[in-house]
Formats: sequence, structure tokens, C-alpha cells
Amino acid sequence: MKILGIETSCDETGIAIYDTNLGLIVNKLYSQSRIHSKYGGVVPELAARKHSLKIIPLISSVLKKINKNNFVNAIAYTGGPGLVGSLLVGATVAASLSYAWKIPKISINHMEGHLLSPMLNSDLIKFPALALLVSGGHTQIIRCDKVGKYVILGDSLDDAAGEAFDKVSKLLGLGYPGGRRISELAKKGRSKKFFFPRPMTNVPGLNFSFSGLKTFTSNIYSYSSKDNQSKADIARAFEDAVIDTLIIKCRRAIEMTGIKRLIIAGGVSANIKLKKEAKKMINIYQGSLYVPSKKFSTDNAAMIAYAGSLRYKKHKDFSLKISINPKWSIADLVSI
Ligand code: KG4
Ligand code: ZN
Repeated sequence: MKILGIETSCDETGIAIYDTNLGLIVNKLYSQSRIHSKYGGVVPELAARKHSLKIIPLISSVLKKINKNNFVNAIAYTGGPGLVGSLLVGATVAASLSYAWKIPKISINHMEGHLLSPMLNSDLIKFPALALLVSGGHTQIIRCDKVGKYVILGDSLDDAAGEAFDKVSKLLGLGYPGGRRISELAKKGRSKKFFFPRPMTNVPGLNFSFSGLKTFTSNIYSYSSKDNQSKADIARAFEDAVIDTLIIKCRRAIEMTGIKRLIIAGGVSANIKLKKEAKKMINIYQGSLYVPSKKFSTDNAAMIAYAGSLRYKKHKDFSLKISINPKWSIADLVSI
């Protein structure tokens, strides 16, 4: 069975085809980051307009990769969470193609797509597992009892980890998206030149708050000499603080639940230092770490098509209804 995946939750137009026998056949992405970088973040209206221009040409080019007699069997699209206008473009195209081609559509939760993304590397996740979902909009620790049965153990109270990276990047004049740029600059930073707080690690529980860290960074920066070395030192101290905080909370989640399998997914999981520190930590517990390969860390349609292949049986839908949920929580999903 072949599933066409459509991802339009934010500023990446992604189209992919996943075959349940052959695996991922094609995976294309049009990134809008250049358009939004001059504004220092995603402009929702521009994102939706660009999706509507790019989505059909991308689908056409992806369909050229498959045999016409062995067409796609279903369309999986991101139904939420995400930006309303962007989600509506993907959902409308999915509903229209579903009607025209007489095949079902499946609405996929973007965060579940991320959570399952390590399986695109044939890395079969064993459950129960814990998941640290770290993206531009989310920082969550989740107990995954099986595919579709998720309990949120910790959540971000304000800025998500990726959002904090993006805001600090803007502050240091590095542009958008910020995660990769901060990381690059941090390599030139000197260790322990500054020490930044590890927010909420001194209170019990698994919640996160990164907005104070962002303000702290901004204050340190305003008093610094603002030369290249001090910017790199600040980037290093900031990155170390975010990663340390994430690792401390993951370790706490392992101690609290006794579950030693850890998934780390979402855009921030592309961070090399985070992956290295997580591996070190999980080895102490003799547990397992599941992380997507770099191209599946940030937004992509392969993970949506893959999730669609798992949800096909129970959640296929032939209706013409265009349904999205911009605030769709992963905890509201049902198991497959
Ligand atoms: O999952 P994603 O592509 O989009 C959302 O669903 O939000 O995540 C994007 C986020 C951005 O905030 C970006 O700065 C961050 O992931 N990111 C990184 C890295 N690469 C992307 N953060 C830290 N280090 C990276 N290497
Ligand atoms: Zn994402």
C-alpha cells in the first residue's frame, strides 16, 4: 500500500510517498525559511500563501516517481497542531484529491508524526517508551504506552525549546531559523565563560519554561562587548543550558517511570550536542535511545505518510469534510 503524505503545519511544504512494503519512496520539501528569515520568524499569512503556490507542483513532481498503474492508496495530511492557514491548505488539497481519486484521507497529528519519525530509519521502537518532543512549538515529555496511547508528563509553560533557540538567534543577529545557527556559533564559544540557569530543574516535576532563560540571555548580551567571541560564548552558554535542562528532565522521567527507552524527536532533535548528551545519559541506564536521522528531525512529509500507514485501517475517511485542529493535543489521540 502507498500513502501520499502532505505536511503544511508551519513553513515547510512537504510531500512524500511511503510504501508499506518498500519503505519511503520519495520525500520532497520546499522550505520557506528564506522568506520568513527577514522577519525573524514565521509570518502565518505568507506561509499559507506560499503553501498554496507550492503544494500542487510538489505533488505532481512526487507522483512522477511512481508507476501510474500502481497509484497511491490513501492521503495522509497534517490535521494539527499548527498554523490555521497553513493547515487549511494541506487539508483542502487532501480532501479534494481524496474526492477526485476516490481514495481515503487520514488526518495525522503532527507531533505523533515526529514521535514515530525514528521508525523511518527502520529503528523499530519498543513500547512502553518515553518521548521528548522538542520543536518550535512544543517541549513535552510523553509516556507512550503504545502507538496512539500517549500521556503528557511534562509540557512547556511558555516558550518551547526551539522557539527559545529562534529568539536568541534573532537577538544575536543570526537570523531564522535559529537552532542550527546558534549551534554552529556555539562551537566557537568557550566553555563556562558564562553560566546560565537551568530553568525549573530545582522544582519537582517535568514541566519546562524557557522564556526566563531567553530574558537572562538578553540581559547578558546587553552588557557584553557584542564582539564575535562574546556572541559565541553566549551562544555556547545558552545551548548548554537548554540541553542540560532537557537531559535533567529526561533523566527525572526515567527515574519516575522506570522506563528506559527514550525517543527524542522534533526539530531540536537535529542538535548534535543534545543527541550526544542523551546517548551518554541513556547508556548509564543501559536503556535505548531512538532519534530520527537529521532529514527527519525537522518538519517533513515522510513522517506524516508513515503515521498514515499505521493509522490507515482505523482512521481512513472518505468524507469531503475539511477538518483541522490547530491546537490538537497528542494526548487526545486513540491507539491504532
Ligand atoms: O519540528 P520543527 O521543524 O517545526 C515545528 O514543528 O515547530 O522544529 C523547528 C525548530 C526550530 O525552532 C529550529 O530552530 C529548531 O527546531 N532546530 C534546532 C536545530 N535545528 C532545528 N534547534 C537546535 N539545534 C538544531 N540543530
Ligand atoms: Zn514539527
